[in-house]
Parts: sequence; C-alpha cells; structure tokens
Amino acid sequence: MSDEIRIARDGAVLEIGIERPAKKNALTGAMYDAMRGALDAASADADVGAVLIRGAGGAFTAGNDIGDFLAAAQAAQRDGGDFPARRFIQTLARFEKPLVAAVDGVAVGIGTTLCFHCDLVYVAPGARFRMPFVDLGLVPEAGSSLLAVQRFGRARASELLMLAEGFDGARAVELGLANALVPAEALLDHARDRARALAAKPRQALLATRRLMRGDPEALYRQMDAELEAFGEALRSPEARNAFLAFMGRPKTP
Ligand code: COA
Repeated sequence: MSDEIRIARDGAVLEIGIERPAKKNALTGAMYDAMRGALDAASADADVGAVLIRGAGGAFTAGNDIGDFLAAAQAAQRDGGDFPARRFIQTLARFEKPLVAAVDGVAVGIGTTLCFHCDLVYVAPGARFRMPFVDLGLVPEAGSSLLAVQRFGRARASELLMLAEGFDGARAVELGLANALVPAEALLDHARDRARALAAKPRQALLATRRLMRGDPEALYRQMDAELEAFGEALRSPEARNAFLAFMGRPKTP
C-alpha cells in the first residue's frame, strides 16, 4: 500500500485521493498499485456503486514519476515491461462501475488520459491538462491515441498528442473531455454529489447502460496493447532517457 493514495468510503462511493503534493501528485509504482487495488476492491464490493478520483493540494497529478520512468526502462528489459502503470491502465480500462473525476491544477500524462475512461469529469478553471508523451520521447497510453481521435477529431487530437499542447479547464469542457467547470472551492463537493447520484441509481440498469455506451471494447484493448508495446520500446530509447534526465536535472525555479 501507499500512504500517498488515500482510499475513503462515503456510503456507496469509493474515493481515491492522489496525495503527493510535494511532487504535484506524480505517480510512483506503489501509488499505481494502490489505485489498482482500490479499483479491484471496488469491483469486488457489491455495495460500491461509483468511484471518484481526485487530487490534492491544488493538483490532480503530474503524471508518471519521471524518476520511475527511468527505473521502468531498466525493469522493462528485465521483466518484459509488466510495470505497475501498465497494470493500473489495464484495470482502469476494464473497470465496469461508473468513474467520476474531480480535476484541479496539473493533470499531465495519465492525469489527462485517465479522464477518457471516466463517465463524469468536473474541472476547476485552474485545471491544466497536457499529454506530453512525444516531447518525452514516448507514445500515448491508456488508449488515448484512439480515444482522443474519437472524442476530439483527428485535427484537434494532433494538436494535443503530437504538438503536446496543453489546455485548461474551460477548454476541457469545450472539447468534451469534461462535463462542467466548477469553482475550485466547490469542485470536490460537486463531484462527490454527482458520484453519489450515480451510485444511488438502479445498479444493474446503470451498469448495463454504461456497457452499452462504451460499446465493444475489443478495438480499445487492441489499441492499448499496441500502445504499450510501442511505449515499452520508446521508454528504452535515448530520446526518452535524455528527456527524463533533462527534467530531473533542470534548474529549480525559485
Ligand atoms: N515526476 C517526478 N517529479 C515531478 C513530476 C513528475 N512527473 N512532476 C513534478 N515533479 C516534482 C518536481 O520535480 C518538483 O520537485 P522538487 O521540488 O523536488 O524539485 C515538484 O514536483 C514540483 O514541480 P515543479 O516543476 O516545481 O512545479 P510547476 O508547477 O513549476 O510545474 C509541472 C508542474 C507538472 C508542469 C511540471 O512539474 C512538469 O512538467 N512535470 C513533469 C510532467 C510530466 O512530464 N509527466 C509525465 C507525463 S507522461
């Protein structure tokens, strides 16, 4: 378990809090494993009707810990790339209960791509989304190379995934990634309220509706496998290594 992932229960809602504020909630392997464990527990618990994912300290998550990326590059050579982020992503994409996200501050990499898998996403004006995979010498993950094109169209997806342009909360709503812009101080209460509303619906009808809306997931799973293969290769490339080292060695802003 990781004490940087807080799991809480509020009636039928299971809440996953990402809490590593000193590092903008960047995700380590232990944190991915804790989040995956929480999703597995939510799947197995008939009393859980919805899951809410939130950040803390004015950030959602700065994405995968860059130091962990360097370590994962070595581990990928050793164990074929079965690392915690991969296991989390696969669990997330196969999760069957409604997912709600409350996003304020940075939502980088998986911070953005996990939102594609959420049914309801609420954002504060200060939300800062970005998918900088290419800039890091990497490729998109969590099905985002398919889901971004489906959601935004090819032209906009190219700006976001190839140029790696960032966007704020208002733009996330315009793009259809998020449902509504909510003032930061009201964001969590609003997301909790919506998660409770989902969890209170007739359970089987809600789950069946979600399955129908998502359609046949096989194309998504195939795309995720292709992404993960390309990601594993990219992770070990000099381009990626140089980008990680550049981030880790960058001058500190006062
Ligand atoms: N991995 C490891 N550490 C990270 C991190 C990450 N993904 N993101 C932020 N941090 C750390 C910083 O190194 C810094 O630590 P330090 O105080 O010990 O130096 C701390 O979190 C605060 O980050 P900082 O960069 O000072 O905050 P900021 O508000 O100026 O910028 C970001 C925030 C998220 C824009 C910037 O940190 C960033 O670009 N992070 C990398 C994001 C990324 O590429 N993630 C991978 C996506 S695939």
